[in-house]
Amino acid sequence: MMMLAAIMPLASFAHNQSTKKGESNMTNKKVLVAFFSRADENYNVGYIEKGNTQIIAEMIGEKTGGDLFHIETVTPYPADYMKCIDVAKKELNSKARPVIKGDANVEDYDIIFLGYPNWWGDAPMAVYTFIEKHNWQGKTVIPFCTHEGSGLGSTEGKLKNACKGATFLKGLAVQGVTAQDRHEQARLSVKNWIDKLNL
Ligand SMILES: Cc1cc2nc3c(=O)[nH]c(=O)nc-3n(C[C@H](O)[C@H](O)[C@H](O)COP(=O)(O)O)c2cc1C
Repeated sequence: MMMLAAIMPLASFAHNQSTKKGESNMTNKKVLVAFFSRADENYNVGYIEKGNTQIIAEMIGEKTGGDLFHIETVTPYPADYMKCIDVAKKELNSKARPVIKGDANVEDYDIIFLGYPNWWGDAPMAVYTFIEKHNWQGKTVIPFCTHEGSGLGSTEGKLKNACKGATFLKGLAVQGVTAQDRHEQARLSVKNWIDKLNL
């Protein structure tokens, strides 16, 4: 996928009255949807106002009633796709832990949907900054990613290693351009996936 990336030229919450914010309709367990997502220029979608993963995160929020937390770096990534590739590659190679804005208290939740774009078979390093701030013991983590061909790749295993003590459920991969431009198709994928998780 390194090659692919190198040549690329380029809540609202719908929950019923009996559930409180952050509480799942299905289980009454507290649900967090934490995600990294970058707007601006990206492969296959051009300049976008809202990142692909954020669109999926919001759909998960609508379906579960979960709270959303956007993992954002204090220093933004370049808007230009190729410049972003350069910065992200250096971070990956150095296992950087970019400083992030704010936080969500993972410890208060039972189920954490963890979302990210696939960047060379891994999550952006800022996702690890977030993970390493928290105690994941006993949590249920459900990964989801957007991508342009790599799917979840080896991301699930890497994140499982990082979220020590958490139980991981089956993740979802949605192509970025589908998330961005084919909302109904993406929403159906999210629905079918969550229904099968039996939360
Ligand atoms: C730095 C960088 C590296 C990427 N590497 C890959 C990759 O290895 N495989 C892939 O399928 N897509 C790759 N992509 C495409 C993104 O995974 C895809 O556009 C994703 O939907 C972006 O999500 P976002 O808009 O939420 O940030 C890469 C994009 C960027 C910016």
